[in-house]
Amino acid sequence: MPNEQMIAVAAGTSDALVEVDRVSIQFPGSRGRGTVVAVEDVSVSIRRGEKFVLLGPSGCGKSTLLTAIGGFIPVSSGEIRVDGKAVTRPSMNRVLVFQDFGQLLPWRTVVNNVEWAIAKRWPKMGAKERAERACHYIERVGLGVQAQQYPNTLSGGQKQRCAIARAFAIQPEILLMDEPFGALDAINREKMQHELNRLWDAEDKRVTIAFVTHDVNEAVHLGHRVMVMSRGPGRLRALVDNPNVGSPPHDASALKLVDELRELLKDTP
Ligand SMILES: Nc1ncnc2c1ncn2[C@@H]1O[C@H](COP(=O)(O)OP(=O)(O)O)[C@@H](O)[C@H]1O
Ligand SMILES: [Mg+2]
Repeated sequence: MPNEQMIAVAAGTSDALVEVDRVSIQFPGSRGRGTVVAVEDVSVSIRRGEKFVLLGPSGCGKSTLLTAIGGFIPVSSGEIRVDGKAVTRPSMNRVLVFQDFGQLLPWRTVVNNVEWAIAKRWPKMGAKERAERACHYIERVGLGVQAQQYPNTLSGGQKQRCAIARAFAIQPEILLMDEPFGALDAINREKMQHELNRLWDAEDKRVTIAFVTHDVNEAVHLGHRVMVMSRGPGRLRALVDNPNVGSPPHDASALKLVDELRELLKDTP
């Protein structure tokens, strides 16, 4: 069972890249009646260079909090800061990758999807450097053979690989991932988790990743720290350190943490 030590509110940590400071987020209720509280009074910090997982049941406010960190929706109260500056709008420094297979530009090939993002990020970069950079990341996600194909000819997994290559290629300060493997079958899902860990290693462990999932195994495979959120309404329930990150999914200590997180989620309203 979780204990008090597992529950930590770490706003203001010195190596914090993202500070979520007493944040609440509400939406207008349906037909204009009342409000829906999606996130309530959450304070947490995401450290520079870590893989941080937001875990919780459906509807507990994970996506809402992640999109607010991206600057895509405003907070109702409190403040989100990145590098000490309040987030008020989206930025190329914060890239969002989500579950939907439709996030690529359908009229561009795999390589052109990546090049397009690079051109947006660095408009003055020469064509040769841009192409080299795009190819580098496409190779890295194992899509070299498909580089000239259009998205509609790719499998779901390949589309997600392309979206991830595109995100890494523009070197964001923080990569926001909202259940990016949620629509993949179990085998591809595990494969992609493994590859995401590998990609992060290959980038010298510099990219900060905030990763949303409702899958406990995925959380333990990917996150240096796991933030458990609870419904009714979206609160921080626990913040758990994970020394097992990247270890084989059947490792005994990873399995123990999986059980602990399951217990926590069971108690979650
Ligand atoms: N744009 C919106 N308008 C109204 N309610 C919303 C909106 N987005 C999310 N919500 C509500 O906020 C709560 C949290 O949603 P969400 O962040 O999507 O949860 P999760 O990603 O954990 O499944 C839910 O009750 C959801 O219905
Ligand atoms: Mg969601």
